[in-house]
Amino acid sequence: MVACWDALGVLGALTAAWLMLRAVWSAGRAVYVFLLPSVRRGAPWLRAHGAWAVVTGATDGIGKAYAHELARRGLNIVLISRNLSKLEREAKEIERLHGTLTRIIQVDFTGGLEIYGAVEEGLKGLEIGVLVNNVGMSVSVVLQKTFEVENPAKRLSDIVNCNMLSVVQMTRIILPQMVSRRRGIIINVSSVAENHPHPLLAAYAATKAFVRSFSLAVATEYSSEGVTVQTVSPFVVSTKMSGHPKTGLLVKTPEDWASEAVDTLGLSSHTSGCLSHAVQEGALDAAALPPTSFLS
Ligand SMILES: NC(=O)c1ccc[n+]([C@@H]2O[C@H](COP(=O)([O-])OP(=O)(O)OC[C@H]3O[C@@H](n4cnc5c(N)ncnc54)[C@H](OP(=O)(O)O)[C@@H]3O)[C@@H](O)[C@H]2O)c1
Ligand SMILES: *[C@@H]1O[C@H](CO)[C@@H](O)[C@H](O)[C@H]1NC(C)=O
Repeated sequence: MVACWDALGVLGALTAAWLMLRAVWSAGRAVYVFLLPSVRRGAPWLRAHGAWAVVTGATDGIGKAYAHELARRGLNIVLISRNLSKLEREAKEIERLHGTLTRIIQVDFTGGLEIYGAVEEGLKGLEIGVLVNNVGMSVSVVLQKTFEVENPAKRLSDIVNCNMLSVVQMTRIILPQMVSRRRGIIINVSSVAENHPHPLLAAYAATKAFVRSFSLAVATEYSSEGVTVQTVSPFVVSTKMSGHPKTGLLVKTPEDWASEAVDTLGLSSHTSGCLSHAVQEGALDAAALPPTSFLS
């Protein structure tokens, strides 16, 4: 009996020590990635990967913020989105504010393989250092059972094409020239929703789990060929998709979020993008909610 309690005591101590170590490691990672300006890679490092950055879904929200942030650091930007007038306006804004070159490609990512010929054509001859796979949509704005949305056949096909096919095809188009130059950065925008199944957001969460799994595996395949893949999984950023919630400690503006997120390039292969979201992730972890790969 006593021996049994002793054994349980040891097990308890080991578990406590393991949890403590994990917490310390997470906190240490957060300090390293977000709070030490001296370890940041900087704009020249970024530009050395290639003169151009390609951003999908670049006319609003997180994608627009990435486009501006990368231009601010001296990269030329290819904006890819569906609305021509928004594309033209945003490209002009970037040229005016940051003085870099831009190109636009109008494409609707709910389409299938047939849309990617135009993308390949539009990217021809550019030395692309950074690809941001950002475009994404949710099935509906309100929480709803998956097959109760209007026109579920089309909605579900749209979300699969927009959130998953776009990532795979854009990477297929751009990765080879990165590999041949042995340098490049691919950023895949996922979501905390990737971590576990989400009833009422079933399809959205599943597409994000796909993005994360695919990114992490491709990252391993190509890390020895000079291509860096980063998966970013933000919490709530105030955009059209999230319904423009009020910003504050927990909810970030896309601009603030993207500025912190770009600073993590080269330092973290999987991040929530900013300190506030990293702390929220750590808190979820500590509460022993489904595990995240914050540690990678
Ligand atoms: N906001 C959040 O809290 C949050 C959290 C976690 C992850 N994310 C992820 O972050 C990414 C960006 O989200 P966001 O909140 O920035 O969304 P957003 O504000 O709705 O912006 C989406 C962008 O993608 C474009 N787009 C949408 N559907 C398209 C299509 N079918 N074809 C071409 N372009 C299309 C939009 O174009 P228009 O300008 O024409 O609308 C817009 O530029 C998504 O992958 C999302 O899953 C967001
Ligand atoms: C494109 O964006 C403009 C400006 O926001 C808007 O007025 C227009 O309706 C949009 N076009 C389409 C096809 O959605």
